[in-house]
Amino acid sequence: MTDEPSGGEAGGPVGGEAGGQLWAGRFSKAPAPEAHALGRSLHFDVRLAPYDVRASIAHVGALRRAGLIADEEASQLERALREIGDEIAAGVFVFDDRDEDVHLAIERAVTHRLGDVGAKLHAGRSRNDLVVTDVRLWLLDVGGRIREATAALARTLIARAREHAATVFPGTTHQRAAQPVALGHHLLAHAWALARDLERLAQWSERTSVSPLGAGALGTSTLGLDPAATAEALGFGRAFENSLDAVSDRDAVQEFLAVASIEATHLSRLAADVARWTDPALAWAELDEAYATGSSMMPQKRNPDTAELARGKAARIVGDLVSLTALLQGLPLGYHRDLQEDKEPAFDAADTLLLVLPALEGCVATLTFDIDAMRAACSDEGLYATDLAEALVKGGVPFREAHRGTGELLKRVADEGRSLRDLSAEEWQAFGVPDGAAMLDPDAAIVARAGAGGPSEASVLAQISALERMLEVPQL
Ligand code: ARG
Repeated sequence: MTDEPSGGEAGGPVGGEAGGQLWAGRFSKAPAPEAHALGRSLHFDVRLAPYDVRASIAHVGALRRAGLIADEEASQLERALREIGDEIAAGVFVFDDRDEDVHLAIERAVTHRLGDVGAKLHAGRSRNDLVVTDVRLWLLDVGGRIREATAALARTLIARAREHAATVFPGTTHQRAAQPVALGHHLLAHAWALARDLERLAQWSERTSVSPLGAGALGTSTLGLDPAATAEALGFGRAFENSLDAVSDRDAVQEFLAVASIEATHLSRLAADVARWTDPALAWAELDEAYATGSSMMPQKRNPDTAELARGKAARIVGDLVSLTALLQGLPLGYHRDLQEDKEPAFDAADTLLLVLPALEGCVATLTFDIDAMRAACSDEGLYATDLAEALVKGGVPFREAHRGTGELLKRVADEGRSLRDLSAEEWQAFGVPDGAAMLDPDAAIVARAGAGGPSEASVLAQISALERMLEVPQL
């Protein structure tokens, strides 16, 4: 493989290096095939090509401003880089077997096309600052797409919550019916989690918007390049402050994976609710067939595979965070080839989130809620016990006493084979809550909690306005 330049785009070796590697001037031997195979990242980092082209064009500007290349040379380089970018995007670019990664593939092609002018491109830069520049540009791009998809799911939850601002829903703790709430309140709890994800993504983007280009291999260069101008040309908020930090730091990737893991966790919990609500044993909601799957054996099944996969995919995103964190911990500063392993977890997490978000959105948008089933699930008198205890509290009874007294009342009626609904006006009077019978009603129980942040229709509508205001903020 290495003795025979494999034709392709880039032609023969540039200079006298062994095996045709661009870095091989000092070498007399080509890499062993298995070492080359281990080192090769082209198959996954090729997706950085558009960002490598952008970063390279910005670097050409830096070389030109420093007087290291003429204007005409800069135009030639820029043109060649754009052409190569277009060819890679169109799938017609011919890669060279010898290229380890996308950076070398692009540089080789530029040099092949432009000769000596092309060979000027890599002055004052290293793949160490280049790769992390590409990764940051990609992260900022994909972060924007994740923000859009997240906001779309949040909007869908808000729309469903508006429809069900007053719909009675059996709020649960420990998966057991606990107190009635508006269904909209439960749906908005998921929307608030996504709003925090959006906030985290916005703050992370801000910290990620730092250009490492010009840091070189670790200690900048002697060429008088201007990293701040390069940063500006690339649309970054600022340039690096410390060149060694610039090439060593992978906080932007790790934080992205942390934010993605938190978001994936939120999605998994929404998915778990969808799967549970649509369980025929509860039947609080029904899945649209477009978001359900049949069983290959049991004809009657309509399974919540979309929701279950949204839940299951969170595991791999958390795994991506763990692999990157394991990769970084204990690694001395400076570039190490270990860092090549930072990209696949990031790509995987981004791809996975962008797969899950629209699917879960469609699944939630098309759920049919069974209003009667949810109301029926609120018929258990126990769901009103806390309100009865609180009614005693409002009459001056200490809460612990009220709690015990209500518990004893529940036990007594159960022992007598009766229900709270069978209590006479006199019995309610004796208990100390004359309007107790009227309190065993889900609508009344929800209205009684009309305060801010609570589960009532008024609160749901106020929450919707607050969330919509947040979603209008452009940086979210
Ligand atoms: N493909 C490499 C990576 O992803 C590029 C940087 C290589 N740098 C080096 N000094 N070998 O990290």
